[in-house]
Amino acid sequence: MNEQDVRRFLGSLRRAVRQVRLYPDGHPLTDEAVSAAETAAEAIIGADGEAALSIMDDAFYLNRSLLPHSSLEFNGLLHEMQARGIETVTLLSVVSRQDLTDLAAFIAGTTGDLPADGTVRLNERPVSRAELEAVPMSGLRKSYASSLEVLRSVTGSMATGSGFELGGVVWAVEGLLEHSLTQSSASLLLATVKSHDEYTFFHSVNVCILALTIGRLVGVDDAMLRQIGIGALLHDIGKMSVSVRILQYPGRLDQEAWKEIKLHPQEGAQAIMAAGGSGNEVAANVAFEHHARFDGTGYPTVTRSGPPHIFSRLVSVVDTYDAITTRRSYRRAETPNRALNVLLNGAGAAWDPDLVRAFIRMMGVYPAGSILQLQGGDVMVVTTQDDTDPDLVRGIRVKRAAGDFIEPEPVVVPIEHITGQLLPERSGVDPSSYLEQTESLP
Ligand SMILES: [Fe+2]
Repeated sequence: MNEQDVRRFLGSLRRAVRQVRLYPDGHPLTDEAVSAAETAAEAIIGADGEAALSIMDDAFYLNRSLLPHSSLEFNGLLHEMQARGIETVTLLSVVSRQDLTDLAAFIAGTTGDLPADGTVRLNERPVSRAELEAVPMSGLRKSYASSLEVLRSVTGSMATGSGFELGGVVWAVEGLLEHSLTQSSASLLLATVKSHDEYTFFHSVNVCILALTIGRLVGVDDAMLRQIGIGALLHDIGKMSVSVRILQYPGRLDQEAWKEIKLHPQEGAQAIMAAGGSGNEVAANVAFEHHARFDGTGYPTVTRSGPPHIFSRLVSVVDTYDAITTRRSYRRAETPNRALNVLLNGAGAAWDPDLVRAFIRMMGVYPAGSILQLQGGDVMVVTTQDDTDPDLVRGIRVKRAAGDFIEPEPVVVPIEHITGQLLPERSGVDPSSYLEQTESLP
């Protein structure tokens, strides 16, 4: 099963639900979303003739497989569906567009009528709860999902001007801290998960995981790691005040727009200081300084007696790494290896050279989540560093040279067998979706 089709389906369905709420029946935007959902639905159904999309707890499943990425990415839609009492959506070939439109309207709550053509059926449970419960879902992934949820709620409160409590954030960081300690390779693999629509939230959780992992490596104690974690998770919270139009602008920004963006560290620090709870000074400082450079330049421009605080320097390194490896509306993603090179080139100027070195040592030449092409054309995802031999890369083979996805299998590959590096969107491989497989590896 390739989760990409399901993500396309859920993405189109989510769009259709929004359009149905905004526009009258038969609006072209709704039609466009429904027709995209139709194409994706047919791909999901494939040769089987039907497919069951189920919701249990906080996760989507397709037939008996957990959909890890979709569960994180379409969490909002998942909750909307749950609120409407939907546990299973069975899609039958050939799915009618009218049924998909009706499904969107039902989720949107604009109608109580179920799809009438019978190609989209609700709550006819072909997969039992017990079967779904038997599917392993990593505690780490749950922790990631909770952190996203906390960020959604924090920004939601900020948007309504009601302020937020640090309690939820502290709790989220606690979960990530625990998992990054016990499963650091798996954490790094999960920290490659991306979302275009909720870039800032996913990016913030990734930055938090990376900051906790590198923080621990350079000897920061647990109490301080918690503080860094809070700062890392909230470092971009000030972007709430920047307009979406500017944040997603596909071209070069003009001076006015830049001025607005450059306010986000201050805005974030203020919001953190205003939040209820204690011990928020370190976090506020991290948010304030995460775009300050090691050499004293960067923003916000303030007179400093030296470089930014070490915790801010640390977050700045991992913030850059995750940003570079993510596709944005104005530029493509770079490979993890390329991102490390950018850091190395800016070490001493933009970033603390000692921290850059420590980070590169931690990540290795091919960091977890790298997608590598091997001699002969097979494709693998790197899952962990091989501590015993730097010339070996460990991971999971996911595709054959012919381009077909295969049952994932563990591999250890000599570095000289690597012929190239691929990007997730080009290769269709989502490294983070192999997390559960990784955890069962020896
Ligand atoms: Fe930022």
